[in-house]
Amino acid sequence: MVIQYTSKVIEHFKNPHNIGKIEDADAYAVEGGPACGDQIAMYLKIDRDTKVITDIKFESFGCAANVATASIVTDMAKGKTIEEAMKTTWKRVAEELGGLPPIKMHCSIMAVDALKNALKNYLNKAKEK
Ligand code: FES
Repeated sequence: MVIQYTSKVIEHFKNPHNIGKIEDADAYAVEGGPACGDQIAMYLKIDRDTKVITDIKFESFGCAANVATASIVTDMAKGKTIEEAMKTTWKRVAEELGGLPPIKMHCSIMAVDALKNALKNYLNKAKEK
């Protein structure tokens, strides 16, 4: 079966933005897809006072849509506050990429879940202090 991706998905897959790891990340999460076995790790730097995401990177262990959706999610989240970034939806992510094939929608859900879980981990850690 040939999967049809938009040119924007292909562009982000070939030249992903914000790829890599942040060693001293303030927030971190790994998200996995039970059905496909793919994973995304998300690393964030967050300004303690303004709650703005100052840096964000990801590592992908998955398909082309996994890389492309994580790339666009990191672009969308950078410069936003935690509150704003929490409003990111997988539908919006798919729209930003000009659409995703239906069987690849779960890849965008995983990318958004990785972002939100990293932020939740950060907020939970802050509560403990
Ligand atoms: Fe698993 Fe795309 S098929 S993340």
